[in-house]
Amino acid sequence: MPERTISSMFDKDHERLDALFKSFQTLKRTDFLKAKNAFLEFKAGLQRHVAWEEEVMFPLWEKKSGMTGGGPTIVMRNEHREIGDCLESLARKIQAQNPETDREEEILLDLLDRHNMSEEEVLYPEMDHLISAEERETAFRAMEKIA
Ligand SMILES: [Fe+2]
Ligand SMILES: [Fe+2]
Repeated sequence: MPERTISSMFDKDHERLDALFKSFQTLKRTDFLKAKNAFLEFKAGLQRHVAWEEEVMFPLWEKKSGMTGGGPTIVMRNEHREIGDCLESLARKIQAQNPETDREEEILLDLLDRHNMSEEEVLYPEMDHLISAEERETAFRAMEKIA
């Protein structure tokens, strides 16, 4: 079995979330109910992804790297807040059955693309470098407890 790395695990989740968001965008003018369901699955999945990072992976990385007072995880946490605000404003319109969300989608995708790229190209590879296989498995078990 190929080794499960932090990069492969989190990159794959980014991809899964991107696909759900794409379904929402593709369906919203033809089948709003289906589009809304895809959006709700995306939203819950993104919130879980952020919790995995902020509650498990970032604290572990901060401990291992010694970067507790600053550094990339602070930037990532701030970006999560921005992404979260955007997600909520989109959710409010969708809850009100309003499909006129092109502008919000564009802002959210722009934020997410840049954020995910920094994680995929820099942070996750550094985590894989710094965190041992055993610590990684412990972290994955902690993530399973976050629904
Ligand atoms: Fe993130
Ligand atoms: Fe991420």
